[in-house]
Amino acid sequence: MNGVTGRMGYRQHLVRSLLALREQGGLELGDGTVLWPEPILVGRSEQALRALAERHGLDRWSTRLDDVLADPSVDIYFDAQLTSARADALRRAIAAGKHVYCEKPTAADLDDALDVARLATAAGVKHGVVQDKLFLPGLRKLRRLLDGGFFGRVLSVRGEFGYWVFEGDWQAAQRPSWNYRTADGGGIVRDMFPHWEYVLRELFGPVRTVQAQVATHLPHRVNEHGRPYEATADDAAYGVFQLDGGIVAQINSSWAVRVDRPELVEFQVDGVEGSAVAGLRGCRVQHRSVTPRPVWNPDVPVAAPFREQWQEVPDNEVFDNGFKVQWELFLRHVVLDEPWRWDLLSGARGVQLAELGLRSSAEGRRLTVPELEL
Ligand SMILES: NC(=O)c1ccc[n+]([C@@H]2O[C@H](COP(=O)([O-])OP(=O)(O)OC[C@H]3O[C@@H](n4cnc5c(N)ncnc54)[C@H](O)[C@@H]3O)[C@@H](O)[C@H]2O)c1
Repeated sequence: MNGVTGRMGYRQHLVRSLLALREQGGLELGDGTVLWPEPILVGRSEQALRALAERHGLDRWSTRLDDVLADPSVDIYFDAQLTSARADALRRAIAAGKHVYCEKPTAADLDDALDVARLATAAGVKHGVVQDKLFLPGLRKLRRLLDGGFFGRVLSVRGEFGYWVFEGDWQAAQRPSWNYRTADGGGIVRDMFPHWEYVLRELFGPVRTVQAQVATHLPHRVNEHGRPYEATADDAAYGVFQLDGGIVAQINSSWAVRVDRPELVEFQVDGVEGSAVAGLRGCRVQHRSVTPRPVWNPDVPVAAPFREQWQEVPDNEVFDNGFKVQWELFLRHVVLDEPWRWDLLSGARGVQLAELGLRSSAEGRRLTVPELEL
């Protein structure tokens, strides 16, 4: 596991996924056997890795990726490093014959993303990319509504994602500074458009065109060491996506917005038969049969608050951590050859949409999203 000292690598992948799997006694494979993950922590700082290993009772760590990759007992290489370091490390792991699983975006640009997808496929190793949003309780409920035919014909999707990321001067920033430097693979488009690509594709249909306006609203920030730096990457993106079937999706992504909504991300879906608003955990609906009749009249105050006219979708099941659920599926894919569709080609689609989004903004026009092939 490379990049486990980072935010995602540590919290979501090591603690909430693999260590959680160990705490539950391993992964039952259904035939009486149990898969027991043995993580080897890989990173740049021996001190940080040792401290982490000790904290969790692990005994294997290394600052030398190639040594770990040369170990025949290692089956899977996982990568949650900063984006710009990913493709090179994936290539080394694939060359060593390891199965690979990694964070999104799978590479800093489309050429590299396609290259690693092709290399992994040619090498015959199993490969996957994290697409955690699909496993969020809120989006699982949305999926359930779609499967149950709640919406009838879906007309449009509007997504609102974002929160204020402090500039780092008088309050520390809650995201690493590389996120704001283009040279390090930063920028909200590269970060979030890969998520929007698979969320839209899996729930509503593939994205056929993209039109985006990006901005760097806060060009000056202060880094982890208290030093000012220029933010070269975009910190907000306003995107319009045309999907198959004429569905229009519009998604705002911003690290320069203050939150006035129940969750950090929300998607409103309007269909002929009903509408839904899904967040990370919650999902509320309004069916056509109970849709009120708003009348535009600024002279009278709103009689009944609109938010109260929606009904909460029940959980009806227990939702496990989404990263862990996807890890379990990947491990089953590797060991049992069970079906899996979130491969490096699907990761490349996310990188493609990010690239086209940035180009659309730079050129001031709407761009077609061609279907990718290996
Ligand atoms: N799936 C998601 O929802 C989600 C959310 C946030 C980030 N991510 C992705 O996860 C990856 C890691 O993001 P993060 O927020 O955990 O970042 P982070 O800065 O907290 O962690 C980065 C990791 O990369 C390592 N690293 C290797 N070379 C480095 C270098 N030259 N400079 C800095 N760090 C270096 C660090 O040691 C650290 O372990 C990114 O690719 C990001 O796009 C995914």
